[in-house]
Amino acid sequence: MTATRPSGDHRAHVSGPEDPRLLGRAVRRIAFDEGTIAGRVRELGAEITAAYPDGDLLVLGLLKGSFVFLADLVREIQRPLHVDFLVASSYGEAVESSGVVRLVYDPETELAGKHILLVEDIVDSGRTLNRLWDLLAERRPTSLAICALLHKNIATELRHPTRFIGFDAPHEFLVGYGLDHAENFRHLPYVASLQ
Ligand code: IMP
Ligand code: MG
Repeated sequence: MTATRPSGDHRAHVSGPEDPRLLGRAVRRIAFDEGTIAGRVRELGAEITAAYPDGDLLVLGLLKGSFVFLADLVREIQRPLHVDFLVASSYGEAVESSGVVRLVYDPETELAGKHILLVEDIVDSGRTLNRLWDLLAERRPTSLAICALLHKNIATELRHPTRFIGFDAPHEFLVGYGLDHAENFRHLPYVASLQ
């Protein structure tokens, strides 16, 4: 992780209980506000554009958490691309360790011969991405890379590098900009930590 990525820790401010999107809950602080996210997404788009000078690029969003980030990100990538999504089933530990992954929605597009950019909202333990990486790598893409909006840097289990990272995330439970708590708060335009 580079020191140039803002951690958000210095932009803390409390959102008022008047925000009608919050189910009456106050958020502890806004970790990344709209302007900060937009600026970083623009930079990521430029990094990604530069990283793929040629070939077919398929941006694969992992639902549901990536939907807001992906929508903004693809509009900052200045080259041809296709978009599709993955929905992975949630399995417990026992199944994960056996390496079994089931995709509830699996793109019908051929992955072979394409650059695949897997877009995730947040990397926590890294388990989700380990499963998906192996499954996607079997399909012989030209390249496979991960782009995550947030990275908790505690992903000791992640066996593959996260090539593009928006922000180093504070070790708090975050919601908004696609991230949820019990399916709430995905629509917040900022990333906040809950009380
Ligand atoms: P991992 O497999 O442990 O890396 O977990 C990644 C997934 O857990 C993410 O795609 C999120 O859906 C969820 N997650 C992890 N941390 C948070 C958080 O702080 N807020 C909301 N969801 C989270
Ligand atoms: Mg997720």
